[in-house]
Amino acid sequence: WPYLLAALAAGYLLGSIPFGLVLTRLAGLGDIRKIGSGNIGMTNVLRTGRKDLAAATLVLDSGKGAAAALLAYWWGGPDPMIVAGFGAVVGHLFPVWLGFRGGKGVATTLGTLLAVSWPVGLAACATWALVAALFRYSSLAALVSLAASPIFAWFLRGNLQLVQFAAILAILVWSRHLQNIGRLLRGQESRLGQKAAPKA
Ligand code: G3P
Repeated sequence: WPYLLAALAAGYLLGSIPFGLVLTRLAGLGDIRKIGSGNIGMTNVLRTGRKDLAAATLVLDSGKGAAAALLAYWWGGPDPMIVAGFGAVVGHLFPVWLGFRGGKGVATTLGTLLAVSWPVGLAACATWALVAALFRYSSLAALVSLAASPIFAWFLRGNLQLVQFAAILAILVWSRHLQNIGRLLRGQESRLGQKAAPKA
């Protein structure tokens, strides 16, 4: 237990670094939470028109999930790895530094899945890319790829613990996309790469 709690806390702390917010602030773009959807993730950073910052946000947000899981694995093995990866996603979603109002967790979840089981992570990333290329909605790509990830875990690995882990992360990420789901259903979701006016 002390090992798992330490892995959870370390994962949470790593995951709670809001890279999208930090990078856009450093670049002098103001508060990303007042732009577009108000989210701190790659998709919303892209709405500022800064592809470089969006790419860096993607790499760092997914990297922190992967790093949390891999470091915990080297330190303590498979169980701490799962717990630290979960902690990183929770940290991104509910960072103490931002009053527990964080991002939507897509990149961090994909990075975590890649580290925990690369075939499952790769299949989820490929699904994200395919849906994004076909429909140009980042949120739809996230919803579909993460809903599919427990299925990938079952068919590619046949591991029930991995299926449950992927399902829990998918539920967490889906629960942060309720406004996106509403916009998708109303046909009001903005397309990937579409620039945004500052939020009113
Ligand atoms: O990665 C988050 C994405 O799925 C939706 O982002 O800014 O359109 O709410 P956003």
